[in-house]
Amino acid sequence: MMQRRKIIDLLHTISSASCKCPAHAHPGTSALDAKVLLSSAQNATQSKDYAFEMACSTIRYGKGVTQEIGMDMVNMKAKKVCVMTDPYIAKLSPLKVTVDSLTKNGVNFEVYDKVRVEPTEESLQAATKFARDGKFDAFIAVGGGSVMDTCKAANLYCSDPEAEFLDYVNPPIGKGKPVTCNLKPLIAVPTTSGTGSETTGVSIFDYEPLKAKTGIANRAIRPTLGIVDPLHTLSLPERVCAFSGFDVLCHALESFTAIPYDQRSPCPPNPLLRPAYQGQNPISDVWAKYALVVMRKYFERAVYNSDDVEARSSMHLASTMAGVGFGNAGVHLCHGMSYPISGNVKSYQPEGYSKDHPIIPHGLSVVMGAPAVFSFTGPACPDRHLEAAEMLGTDVSNAKRADAGKILSDTVRRYMQVMKVDNGLGALGYTKDDIPGLVQGTLPQHRITKLAPREQSEEDLASLFENSLSVY
Ligand SMILES: NC(=O)c1ccc[n+]([C@@H]2O[C@H](COP(=O)([O-])OP(=O)(O)OC[C@H]3O[C@@H](n4cnc5c(N)ncnc54)[C@H](O)[C@@H]3O)[C@@H](O)[C@H]2O)c1
Ligand SMILES: [Fe+2]
Repeated sequence: MMQRRKIIDLLHTISSASCKCPAHAHPGTSALDAKVLLSSAQNATQSKDYAFEMACSTIRYGKGVTQEIGMDMVNMKAKKVCVMTDPYIAKLSPLKVTVDSLTKNGVNFEVYDKVRVEPTEESLQAATKFARDGKFDAFIAVGGGSVMDTCKAANLYCSDPEAEFLDYVNPPIGKGKPVTCNLKPLIAVPTTSGTGSETTGVSIFDYEPLKAKTGIANRAIRPTLGIVDPLHTLSLPERVCAFSGFDVLCHALESFTAIPYDQRSPCPPNPLLRPAYQGQNPISDVWAKYALVVMRKYFERAVYNSDDVEARSSMHLASTMAGVGFGNAGVHLCHGMSYPISGNVKSYQPEGYSKDHPIIPHGLSVVMGAPAVFSFTGPACPDRHLEAAEMLGTDVSNAKRADAGKILSDTVRRYMQVMKVDNGLGALGYTKDDIPGLVQGTLPQHRITKLAPREQSEEDLASLFENSLSVY
């Protein structure tokens, strides 16, 4: 009886130490069994953490490197490969180069080109059906976060044919079942410079019954290999380049300003339970800083010059680097607030995206709150806010620490203006009346919002949304 209570307590500890929010992976719970839980329970402690752990994906980077993918499949002894993409990329060079390489190397494959941009539970299930029916032994995802996330989910569900869809979805929406089956190899070929999904064990989708984004988070679904080939980004429409670029910017800024790893609590009672999002640490700082410096030099050039190979290549690498950084340090308020912003979309339909359905692209939903967020978090770690502003090109030589939040906020606002981002949530169709709903949609994201360097009340969140109704 006593032991049973300890296990339940420990499960609560795990649930507060690990993130179940859409973008937030937690460690390989597949490795957790009752024995580990029990021995961990005996050591459970509530003190702050004192260590961090970096998990890095295997990444291959180079112009034209996708041509090697057929050889990779031969090396993996794949007999039947599922290639996933979306209907737009299906007509573009990234898919053609992939298919040509597979054909040249005699690899048997089928293409699924019906991935939904910003996936839903329905679209993931359609992709899963294709994957289950096809009895594939390897997967390739060619596309942005939408395609990579869909392919991760399809791989998981066809590796466990008996699983119901909600079995692996993060609680409280799903059951968050540990992954104990063996997944097939998956190579991710990102075509946007944004999500860093090629490096993460996370698959995000809109759960339409609740108008909320949620996901599946487990290291088991992380791609085996990320092939980062910057030539694919040359066909990115201007708006996709801008919005996915703001996703990179916020991954870097949020991981750089997150709570330090040794201020996060509780300390996990077993290293298996240390969450992936651990707070900023000296190694994640390296990735975040790299991304910020690259963005200063290349973001604008990449957005407005689709043939600028140097700028678009640099942004593509920055996206992967920021991905590794935030994949270990975490993100905080900009991302936490973004999920209800995108989930409650009304009629917004930006250029460059499919016109099938209204959409607030992920990077746009994330950056809309950024000026308000960094004004708010500035007092918690002013030096980091100033350092970040400086890396983004702002002269901070005479800056006062008391102004740090405003200075970083103005810096982000300047980038938004240069990249012609609409003027705040108001321009996306939101009014003051929507704020209570947006706050309610953010509260369940506390597993990332608690990584912010400053705690927030419901009133604080309401002010952050209100201050984001217009940004200029
Ligand atoms: N798994 C993770 O770690 C993670 C992290 C952040 C965001 N996400 C999720 O990723 C999704 C967003 O992904 P995204 O920003 O990469 O965009 P996306 O995959 O949704 O694609 C956006 C649009 O750009 C088009 N496109 C993509 N690459 C192109 C190219 N090279 N040339 C021409 N058109 C191209 C697509 O067809 C689509 O219309 C969201 O669902 C978001 O929640 C996942
Ligand atoms: Fe993101």
